[in-house]
Amino acid sequence: MAMATVTSTSLFSRTSLFRSFSITTTKPHSYHLKASAMEPVSEIREEGNDEGASVKKKIFVAGATGSTGKRIVEQLLAKGFAVKAGVRDVDKAKSTFPGNNPNLQIVKADVTEGSSKLSEAISDDSEAVICATGFRRSWDLLAPWKVDNFGTVNLVEACRERGVNRFVLISSILVNGASMGQLFNPAYVFLNLLGLTLIAKLQAEQHIRKSGINYTIIRPGGLKNDPPKGNIVMEPEDTLSEGSISRDQVAEVAVEALLHPESSYKVVEIVARTEAPKRSFEELFGSIKQR
Ligand SMILES: NC(=O)c1ccc[n+]([C@@H]2O[C@H](COP(=O)([O-])OP(=O)(O)OC[C@H]3O[C@@H](n4cnc5c(N)ncnc54)[C@H](OP(=O)(O)O)[C@@H]3O)[C@@H](O)[C@H]2O)c1
Repeated sequence: MAMATVTSTSLFSRTSLFRSFSITTTKPHSYHLKASAMEPVSEIREEGNDEGASVKKKIFVAGATGSTGKRIVEQLLAKGFAVKAGVRDVDKAKSTFPGNNPNLQIVKADVTEGSSKLSEAISDDSEAVICATGFRRSWDLLAPWKVDNFGTVNLVEACRERGVNRFVLISSILVNGASMGQLFNPAYVFLNLLGLTLIAKLQAEQHIRKSGINYTIIRPGGLKNDPPKGNIVMEPEDTLSEGSISRDQVAEVAVEALLHPESSYKVVEIVARTEAPKRSFEELFGSIKQR
């Protein structure tokens, strides 16, 4: 059983972004699979307040060349994080992120290639992983299962191997549609006809929730490339069955999850509504109960 404690404030503190840090686990290669959600797994300790000797926290983004993934990368960089962009196609990534930003590293990371390769890609310098992968349509009917279930499971296992204790997943509303009386919701039917996509995502979510890793599972409604229209509405799991949201806002929620301890061990469903009041991320994440 992993025996350690979490000092979460240092992970989320904005002021600590540029300080040096270290991750210590008392048992780095042995993790407790059935750890309860609240059971702490690792300790993140700051090594000092010397701004001069700062090390930026590095976040690994899987699916970084995707429509949401690239927004996550851009927002992380804008907030002062260093980013390791995990991508299938390095050349595509170089054109997606032109300009040789010294805080951006691009690494090859196909989530279907197994956890060992992903562990090498994540390496020892990643503080957290954000997963924004999603299968690309192809003739392979198993692609959703391979990418959205096994691929995400591989990423979680790679995190466990590396002692990475923070995982943010972009999932989807309606993943648990069958249990919330939405079996015949056209979106639920359509997406599951496409290779059981939502069921694959739900399986991956369940793996994360049992992993002991501090997770935030973000389930957005229909994704839009347009700029935000309306404010973010955040609800508990298995609540929303319709609605849409700008990918910019989804990326923002993913990045803000890293900065707010209220997001720990939570599943949140998000859409945007013009009539909704604007709320802070403390309020939004804080309004969702851990289960
Ligand atoms: N579309 C919607 O309305 C909607 C609604 C709710 C939730 N979602 C979910 O939200 C997430 C983001 O959606 P999106 O539309 O922004 O994504 P997207 O543009 O389709 O991007 C998907 C990303 O996953 C990557 N990917 C695919 N297979 C991979 C593999 N084997 N290994 C590593 N990376 C792989 C793709 O890489 P390449 O760039 O190399 O192709 C791409 O970067 C997805 O999980 C999606 O299912 C979507």
